[in-house]
Amino acid sequence: MNIICMANEKGGTGKSTVAINIGLMAVKEGKRVLFIDADPQASGFAFYERRQENENLKSFQMVMKPSKSLHRDIDELSRGFDLVIIDIGGRDSKIFRSAILASTHVIIPTQPSQFDLWSLSNTLDIIEEARVFKPIEAKVLLNMVPARAKLTEDTLSTIKEEEIPCFKTTLGFRVAFREAITQGLSVMEYEPKGKAAFEIKKLWEEIKTWLDIK
Ligand SMILES: Nc1ncnc2c1ncn2[C@@H]1O[C@H](COP(=O)(O)OP(=O)(O)O)[C@@H](O)[C@H]1O
Ligand SMILES: [Mg+2]
Repeated sequence: MNIICMANEKGGTGKSTVAINIGLMAVKEGKRVLFIDADPQASGFAFYERRQENENLKSFQMVMKPSKSLHRDIDELSRGFDLVIIDIGGRDSKIFRSAILASTHVIIPTQPSQFDLWSLSNTLDIIEEARVFKPIEAKVLLNMVPARAKLTEDTLSTIKEEEIPCFKTTLGFRVAFREAITQGLSVMEYEPKGKAAFEIKKLWEEIKTWLDIK
């Protein structure tokens, strides 16, 4: 069972956005997906409700569970699903730690900036601590990458120097990500031929290789 957690102690790096878009790629391919919203702010849940308004759209199962015992409940919660995606806030470190312990894979959306690099090292430390209990894979995903990219180059070289695993795919700063969410859609549904959809498709392929699933 693959359990992906979207993690970053910093807010606004794209955790919920990526969780939703990846989850809906899996749904599109016929996988049984459970989305666990462990963020008390409930962005994932709000999206889910918006999406439910349109009965023609296939969705994932959704549970709201901002809980400190996810790592204990995960076996029961995940029964019968092919893929579980846990979306967390950043602020409550007990929920954060519990979600990481519940996961097999952690995706860390990070913006290419110095502030983000600083918060990244905290997140990586927490994952490292959880590895005392079980093996957990983690990869950084560069998100909201601007078109002009000196800063991105600098961020990438820091990540490389510190040997932090990173997705080859990066996501650009694209309004389609914002507009799609507002309408309860994935970027694939919103603008299938757009750049955001292209990037999400590429990312999903990379994730499937990482999880070793088809
Ligand atoms: N690649 C992107 N391009 C443009 N806007 C983005 C992108 N990724 C996320 N956003 C927007 O940035 C904001 C924060 O994203 P969100 O997924 O809510 O972050 P988090 O869950 O980490 O707090 C949202 O308004 C979202 O629509
Ligand atoms: Mg969020």
